[in-house]
Amino acid sequence: MSDWSEITRQILEERGASRFYSNVFYRDSVDSSNEWVKELGEVHFPEGTVGIADAQTAGKGRRGRTWVSPSGENIYFSLLLRPEFSPEHAAALTLVMGLSVAQAIREVTDLPVGIKWPNDVVINHKKVCGILTEMNAEVGKIHYVVIGTGINVNQTAFAEEIRNMATSIKIESGDNDADRGVLLAHVLLYFKENYLKYCETEDVSLLIDSYNDLLVSRGLQVRIEDPKGEYIAISRGITRTGGLVVECEDGSTREITSGEISVRGLYGYT
Ligand code: BTN
Repeated sequence: MSDWSEITRQILEERGASRFYSNVFYRDSVDSSNEWVKELGEVHFPEGTVGIADAQTAGKGRRGRTWVSPSGENIYFSLLLRPEFSPEHAAALTLVMGLSVAQAIREVTDLPVGIKWPNDVVINHKKVCGILTEMNAEVGKIHYVVIGTGINVNQTAFAEEIRNMATSIKIESGDNDADRGVLLAHVLLYFKENYLKYCETEDVSLLIDSYNDLLVSRGLQVRIEDPKGEYIAISRGITRTGGLVVECEDGSTREITSGEISVRGLYGYT
């Protein structure tokens, strides 16, 4: 497979972002781009190092799941960051990447892309991108963060178990193959802008409006699947720390922060 990320480097250069993204590496196949970039983190590669893979043989999803990563179709990349803020602020970086992917897809395609809180990017109620953030830290200090992102770009067939939940840009657009290198450049450009804003306030204060504009559940009824008990509420949008505010049937509001709690639409995955 030829290095399709050459166009990514070119666009980053043209748009003045190649100082931030000073190392953009490409490999035809890796076990997991997160494992690869964590190794680069251990040997002191700088913030902004990116590892892009055409395929993964052991792609990792959240909660110990596998991220199936065939070659020649999709984007799999991991980004190394070395933020100066304390470790409790790192989790919301996943939201920042989700926002950046959604903004990039919206710019490069005309598709009705949205975000399912906290960080799944969806098109027509199906997931098109997944993000796995890992961190190496000690109390009060981050050594590095690796944000791994998989975007389904040109894949046209999914395994039976995920077929009703997963989609790709090509399936939704019905067009020819989308250019992975161009899309990835836009993701990285949006991420750089959003990340600098995040670092300014150490929360998503400056990104709330952009995020809430893309939040698919906003203003709609959702089912809150809390291990302590399920309930129905209206999704109102995120707070500066990245929690989701919901309005309960009695008019009271609650902020959902825990990854243990799923928020679903009343009809289906989103
Ligand atoms: C999820 O379960 O939704 C998260 C999926 C994250 C997949 C990406 S693909 C690039 C990076 N490398 C990995 O092994 N996983 C992430």
